[in-house]
Amino acid sequence: MQTMKSWSLPTAAAVVAATIFFSLSTMALPAASAIVEHTFVVSQMNMTHLCKETPVTVVNGQIPGPSIEVTEGDSVTVHVVNKSPHNITIHWHGVKQRRNCWSDGVPMVTQCPIQPNQNFTYRFSVAGQVGTLWWHAHVSCLRATLHGAIIIRPRLGASSYPFPKPDREIPFIIGDWWAMDLSVVARRMEKDNFFDYFPSASTINGKLGDLFNCSGVPEDGFVLGVEAGKSYLLRIINTALFSEYFLKIAGHKFTVVASDANYVRPYTTDLVVIAPGETIDALVVADAPPGKYYMVAMPNQAPLPDTQTPEPSTRATMQYSSSNGGKPVAPVMPDQHDVVRSLYFHSNLSSLRHPRHPLPPVPQQVDQHLFITLGLGMACRQGFKCNRDDKNDNMILVATMNNISFQKPTAPLLPAHYYHVAGSNRGDLLELPDRPPRVFNFTDPSLIPIGPKEKALETTYMATLARWFRYGSAVEMVFQSTSIMQGDSNPMHLHGHDMFVLAQGVGNFDAAKDRARYNLVDPPLKNTVVVPNLGWVAIRFVADNPGVWYMHCHYEFHLAMGMTAVFIVEDGPTVNTSLPAPPVDYPSCGRPNRKKGSLVPDESYLQTREIKASRIDGV
Ligand code: C2O
Repeated sequence: MQTMKSWSLPTAAAVVAATIFFSLSTMALPAASAIVEHTFVVSQMNMTHLCKETPVTVVNGQIPGPSIEVTEGDSVTVHVVNKSPHNITIHWHGVKQRRNCWSDGVPMVTQCPIQPNQNFTYRFSVAGQVGTLWWHAHVSCLRATLHGAIIIRPRLGASSYPFPKPDREIPFIIGDWWAMDLSVVARRMEKDNFFDYFPSASTINGKLGDLFNCSGVPEDGFVLGVEAGKSYLLRIINTALFSEYFLKIAGHKFTVVASDANYVRPYTTDLVVIAPGETIDALVVADAPPGKYYMVAMPNQAPLPDTQTPEPSTRATMQYSSSNGGKPVAPVMPDQHDVVRSLYFHSNLSSLRHPRHPLPPVPQQVDQHLFITLGLGMACRQGFKCNRDDKNDNMILVATMNNISFQKPTAPLLPAHYYHVAGSNRGDLLELPDRPPRVFNFTDPSLIPIGPKEKALETTYMATLARWFRYGSAVEMVFQSTSIMQGDSNPMHLHGHDMFVLAQGVGNFDAAKDRARYNLVDPPLKNTVVVPNLGWVAIRFVADNPGVWYMHCHYEFHLAMGMTAVFIVEDGPTVNTSLPAPPVDYPSCGRPNRKKGSLVPDESYLQTREIKASRIDGV
């Protein structure tokens, strides 16, 4: 089995204390950009919740891990010291990493993972971004315990916010707790591509809260102490592997002011809906009668006939300084299955139009159109030939885009792309087709139960799926959720770029009708867009950041099962539009393993599309 190492708390505290912040400037106002430096020691330790001790992988001994607090334009340096027994990468979720794909932290896509007892230093800048982002391990499942906030403040200070300056700012991290060794789950998933595990609890800022108890003793919960009349900016992040959440606070409303580090037109609501990968900044004013109020985060869940799994709520408490005891007031929560509320919440977001915060131009013309269906399927394990009806271990459950499930590359793609080394990796990459192999009623609920009807439509195979974009091209993508074996939503995340969300809806996308509804004036800009349950979303983005970027569903099980592709943005015409050389300490993982199984695609499928493999070559 595996060796367990634990990182003692005092040592971890010393490491936190050793985190250095220093400014290169002392005089200028507004402050010139600084270098913010952190050391992240990754280790494995045991934590006890629900009366059970669980091995967890953490940064600096804490969950959530340290927040990175910076000012727009700063440079960030993070020394990752891997004392854990696992291969690790850290991804800076939503940081655009302009011309800096090398620091994006995706194993076997942008880098070799940092192996046990190895170090790597990530360097990136947060120029041109303000708001809340986060960081997490991009290694199967481990992000449940390896994550933290990235808070980027405006260079001109909090008084330059395009909303009333809050009295305090609080990271509010929703997550899930797994009373099992997630590294074991991850290994099993690698092997079987099958996710039949469920979280034991939900958390707010790492705490399970009093809806959970261990032999009658309630778990510790997060308490937000407030003063009557003051305002609080909650920087809400969903780090969970498993669920989208409804969030409500009894007796209070939220004013949503930003999402994914982009300002939005202030929008007042009593319900925030947040999917894994998203961030929502919301102002909450303590304007209720002084007392105690529960803040409840409830995972939502597709209704029957979807498989129902246990998805427990958690709660924190908002407590007025002047309150004198008593029981907290609880909010009335929506029905857990009322998933259309996510669509309503997300459709109400639009970009803020503000003279001090100009919006980048929304592409009016499109160079490439993609229509991408998202769903499940059964595939034949690599190197085997099988038939869908085989009841053997060679058939595995996969998640797909346009019926293809992503297969992890055997050598990192970014250096292969950068060096253009001719040779032996030809054939490894398959171009993501423009559309699915068949058109059918994508959202027909009768396809959810496994049976002959869905079986006919799920033809699936596995390949390292990629799509190439000329530098500067404007891309439109319509993501269509399908009902094959499930009716989940899909929070789709694109690395290295923000996407304009033009429209979304339930049912099947209807180009004639739905294109007319596009918001080309003030669509929200997001790095993670929620494709509604049995619905669709249309986005546009400009491929102007050269590199190899991951694009995937942020539900961990969909990601692990292959709902992933890489977007390869080619160099532009100048040095300033091209990817520079890798950093000197860029990790390597020895000679790439050139041994690979053969792809066995469905014949009819192959005839309809072209395999583009010659554009990426072996390292
Ligand atoms: Cu937050 Cu590729 O992910």
